[in-house]
Amino acid sequence: MKVLVIGSGGREHALCWGIAKSPDLEKLYCAPGNGGIAAVADCVDLDASHHGEIIEFCRDNDIGLVVVGPEVPLVEGLADALVAAGIDTFGPSAAAARLEGSKSFTKELCAAHNIPTAAFGRFSDAASAKVYVETQGAPIVVKADGLAAGKGVIVAQTIAEAQAAIDDCFSGAFGDAGAEVVIEEMLVGEEASFFALSDGKTVRPLATAQDHKRVGDGDTGPNTGGMGAYSPAPVMSDSLCARTMTEIIEPTVAALAAAGTPYKGVLFAGLMITAKGPELIEYNVRFGDPECQVLVMRLKSDLLGMLAATARGTLASCPIEWDEAPALTVVMANRGYPGSYKKGSVIGNLEEAGDEPGVHIFHAGTACQKDTIVAIGGRVLNVTAKGDSVSAARSKAYDAAAKLDWPRGFCRSDIGWRAVQREQDTA
Ligand code: AMP
Ligand code: GLY
Repeated sequence: MKVLVIGSGGREHALCWGIAKSPDLEKLYCAPGNGGIAAVADCVDLDASHHGEIIEFCRDNDIGLVVVGPEVPLVEGLADALVAAGIDTFGPSAAAARLEGSKSFTKELCAAHNIPTAAFGRFSDAASAKVYVETQGAPIVVKADGLAAGKGVIVAQTIAEAQAAIDDCFSGAFGDAGAEVVIEEMLVGEEASFFALSDGKTVRPLATAQDHKRVGDGDTGPNTGGMGAYSPAPVMSDSLCARTMTEIIEPTVAALAAAGTPYKGVLFAGLMITAKGPELIEYNVRFGDPECQVLVMRLKSDLLGMLAATARGTLASCPIEWDEAPALTVVMANRGYPGSYKKGSVIGNLEEAGDEPGVHIFHAGTACQKDTIVAIGGRVLNVTAKGDSVSAARSKAYDAAAKLDWPRGFCRSDIGWRAVQREQDTA
């Protein structure tokens, strides 16, 4: 099979690396790819928002499966266009991608199907949103309705902070995403990520993970796309996983099928494990980045087979097996991230740093220039390792990171702290 992966992050490098191991792969392309992906795939300069261009490339190159990494092309209907052109595609339709593209869509779906989630109100003007905040009190969560690249959520500790967030949303701080706001009860508990695959009819659990969104040690500082992750999430016992499937994932997939917009792809539920059990914070319609990197490290089955079965409606018979050993990834970011940063610094010693059994360095914001790898993005490398415990995986990942020669790079020093503490407490 010839395969095209869409995207350019660490997630797409992990997907390409996993797909490249498949005995069924004939040829792998990635658009646009990055400096690390170029080692396993042909990077092609295509624009995911030009659906006609992607379809033409697929026809010219006999592509049997397109795997869409990020959410934006899915919300914009890339999967619809490809499927209409007869090209098998991993990733949901635009209608099903509203699970991520519109917070109010998801909240209404939860309300209609009794899916546990925070109590909420939806508002299209600031005055009524502020009245609601006053009646509910703080702390309270204010969210821009649409896609805001992970920045449209404010957990407000006071009513004044919530009101300022409402004003920000309606004054265009999040662009079109803030034309409507969702205001939610603040859920209290431990967060975890749950991944499932759905081919529209069959839905199967994949694995769990936890990430670190804040830029600084001790989960402090501004939010980022994620500074590290590990899998599995120790908080997700078998019974919590089973409840997540029956109380959250299965009713969601059934509701979308009943509405005539079946869900095909990976469903990534951001959960809060509250005193009542798992509650849905949000859905994403794609793999997490960097969660995908740790999932792929633990996967024993054929990734390409799983993605193709999801796209083709044959998920029920597809093997999905995991290595019990945990995996952990440390994000190396460009100094300044998540604010502004310099592009073009050279990263040295990459091969030596990644040359350990059970270690792999996935590239995110890198480019290959005349045989050297340079940093061109905010999150640049994902130093990923597998070990007998989270603590062991973490030591391996940090040992590998220490071998990199990249003075402009930085990472958090405490990725996995919660899981490591659990391991120490139970030792
Ligand atoms: P999101 O961008 O939707 O992933 O939200 C970012 C973060 O905000 C989540 O990972 C949670 O830490 C937090 N958050 C969002 N909604 C809630 C909620 N209802 N209660 C508590 N925390 C929340
Ligand atoms: N790491 C969080 C996300 O991919 O949304």
